[in-house]
Amino acid sequence: MTEAAPQSNVPFDDDPPPPRRPDAEPMIEAIDLCKHYGSFAAVDDVSFTIRKGEVVAFLGPNGAGKSTTMKVLTGYLAPTKGQARLRGFDVTKDRVKAVEKLGYLPENGPLYPDMTPRKLLKFFGEARGIHARFRSQLERVIDECDLEELLDKPIGTCSKGQRQRVGMAQVLLHEPEVLILDEPTTGLDPNQIRQVRELVKKLGQTRTILLSTHLFQEVEAMADRVLVVSDGRLAFDGTVSDFLYKGGGQMDRAFHTLTTES
Ligand SMILES: Nc1ncnc2c1ncn2[C@@H]1O[C@H](COP(=O)(O)OP(=O)(O)OP(=O)(O)O)[C@@H](O)[C@H]1O
Ligand SMILES: [Mg+2]
Repeated sequence: MTEAAPQSNVPFDDDPPPPRRPDAEPMIEAIDLCKHYGSFAAVDDVSFTIRKGEVVAFLGPNGAGKSTTMKVLTGYLAPTKGQARLRGFDVTKDRVKAVEKLGYLPENGPLYPDMTPRKLLKFFGEARGIHARFRSQLERVIDECDLEELLDKPIGTCSKGQRQRVGMAQVLLHEPEVLILDEPTTGLDPNQIRQVRELVKKLGQTRTILLSTHLFQEVEAMADRVLVVSDGRLAFDGTVSDFLYKGGGQMDRAFHTLTTES
């Protein structure tokens, strides 16, 4: 297939680009990571390093392995092979240390349908050992995630977008250094999407973030680097400019090329 002439003057070659912050501490590492279900490889030998202060968009078609990679990175699933590390700690062997400063928003938001957001946040606050500062942290996440009206409504009766906001509040309660967010804006209304994007941008100034999305505006608005997976394998790792260049200035074209050509 002939690629269209690039419309961007950002240089691109097929070698992986140097990390944006080559001296910064590695915060999220996938090292030859594999997750197999029987003979099917949902994650197939994936390696990348995300350094302190990077905001990385994780892209890939449905079923490409984004959520599975995130579950392995956060220790929710054991890898079949390879290693996942957070802040330098192996998530399998040193789980408590590895997840101490982690905020993970899973694909389908929080569980515990019978709890109210207030009880859920209190439960997680206690589990995370936030005692003295709990009240101020709670007020902060209520404000950041617009939860005031929902605090005493059972989570099972919240709408999809409302549940997503409760999940986000749970993620942010302990001021994590590393955020792994699986499609954080899915199901949100346009005002909430805007609010979450602003929040991620703000958090990205001091935290390290890996977020999956299917929305290219989200990549431009929040990320400085892009990872693309296709059929469980890493198909691209580069800056947003490199990604754009790959598609001749169009992200959808870059995505199509990377995920349909083998
Ligand atoms: N428990 C499981 N048993 C068998 N296969 C599974 C299991 N969980 C996930 N898979 C398969 O692994 C592959 C990767 O799924 P995953 O949820 O990671 O994709 P994704 O990239 O997050 O997709 P989406 O964009 O739809 O969220 C899919 O083919 C899925 O069917
Ligand atoms: Mg997914």
